[in-house]
Amino acid sequence: MTERTLVLVKPDGVARGLVGEVITRLERKGLRLVAAELRTLTREVAETHYAEHSERPFFADLVEFITGGPLVALVVEGPRAIEAFRALAGATDPVKAAPGTIRGDFALEVQNNIVHGSDSPESAAREVKLFFPDLG
Ligand code: PPS
Repeated sequence: MTERTLVLVKPDGVARGLVGEVITRLERKGLRLVAAELRTLTREVAETHYAEHSERPFFADLVEFITGGPLVALVVEGPRAIEAFRALAGATDPVKAAPGTIRGDFALEVQNNIVHGSDSPESAAREVKLFFPDLG
């Protein structure tokens, strides 16, 4: 079944020049790019995107980080794309992420973990609409 998912190359990934690396890995896997844009998030979009974490102690830092520089937002499509990208990304905590995954290969900190991928069909639908409202 073909699915769509929202992938973000977060500001740390853009600053470190890892956009091509992330896109290469997901294309090599067989996932297809449907939309791509470099942009700096407003606080409003960031707070909406991470609304489910609004009560957590790291929320303010997370919003500060994700709005702190340009990121690359991607919509990616393919069979079980949500799960497929999360497998490529590796665990949220990069120290626990397996070598060979994006976070396992390139990151050390849970906040600066290079990429975001939607975690369920419901969040994928919500996040794709938030970032690309005109996508058919
Ligand atoms: S958890 O701890 O398993 O619930 O984490 P998770 O729900 O996967 O994390 C959600 C996003 O919050 C970020 N995060 C943090 N940022 C800063 N400090 C701390 N301690 C922290 N813990 C989690 C994490 O990078 C996740 O970002 P996304 O963009 O969803 O991957």
